[in-house]
Amino acid sequence: MSTVSEDAAREPVISLRGVTAELGSRRVLRGVDLAVRRGEVVALLGANGSGKSTAIRTIVGQVPVTGGEIEIFGTPRRRFRDWARVGYVPQRTTAAGGVPATVTEVVSSGRLSRARFGVLRRADRDAVRHALEQVGMADRARDSVEALSGGQHQRVLIARALASVPELLIMDEPMAGVDLASQEVLAATLREQVERGVSVLLVLHELGPLEPLIDRAVVLRDGCVLHDGPPPRAVGQHALPGHDHVHPHADHAEPTRTGLLS
Ligand SMILES: Nc1ncnc2c1ncn2[C@@H]1O[C@H](COP(=O)(O)OP(=O)(O)OP(=O)(O)O)[C@@H](O)[C@H]1O
Ligand SMILES: [Mg+2]
Repeated sequence: MSTVSEDAAREPVISLRGVTAELGSRRVLRGVDLAVRRGEVVALLGANGSGKSTAIRTIVGQVPVTGGEIEIFGTPRRRFRDWARVGYVPQRTTAAGGVPATVTEVVSSGRLSRARFGVLRRADRDAVRHALEQVGMADRARDSVEALSGGQHQRVLIARALASVPELLIMDEPMAGVDLASQEVLAATLREQVERGVSVLLVLHELGPLEPLIDRAVVLRDGCVLHDGPPPRAVGQHALPGHDHVHPHADHAEPTRTGLLS
């Protein structure tokens, strides 16, 4: 017997059906089907240029689609306005842009969709401080983001997404350039989010410390879905140093590759 709450749990928070997108004259997405159900953690995998970031950017409205349908929390993307429910971590670029801002300012921008008339209140400031603590950057709150290393900057972008206390987290390579110790801190933070019922779509190249959290993997190749199902576990476990399984090939230097990630 299925209860109402079980049915609600099956409801997709993100749904892409037959989505196509072009950038320049290039067909970058060629009919992508992708669903993330409530409470699920879905990894989006694939080689460089396979269309992962483009797929993510169509969801958050930064790339127009030329065909297909996108729904967020069951609402067509064009009509969706409730962005306070969504935390987005863009793929980090090396280009420093715009006016230098402090760590606190960047993370506070994650609260703006919740703040009335753009005025941050006590609760907003508390949420910003808490988010910085979650990524281990509280001691850098007053620093300019320009004075941060790449991995520290990435952690600040994650804090910005967490500060809005979202129901859905969309993250494009959140672990890129982040050292293993910080990856483990972020994995623990993400586990807390998942335990709270947050749904997650994230682009990864290696499952790494996130491997145990991932329910499903969608692999893109040339703008098409190549695989949608269980994550390629061997890759995740081998990506962890000191994994304690004994494998028949343990004497080989190279870990086994499933071929899905490259
Ligand atoms: N602004 C753009 N104009 C033209 N082509 C673009 C643009 N942005 C991306 N592309 C092309 O779209 C394709 C997919 O790019 P996308 O950034 O989605 O790949 P990705 O899977 O995220 O790769 P990576 O792992 O390197 O981040 C690539 O061939 C890329 O060159
Ligand atoms: Mg990308």
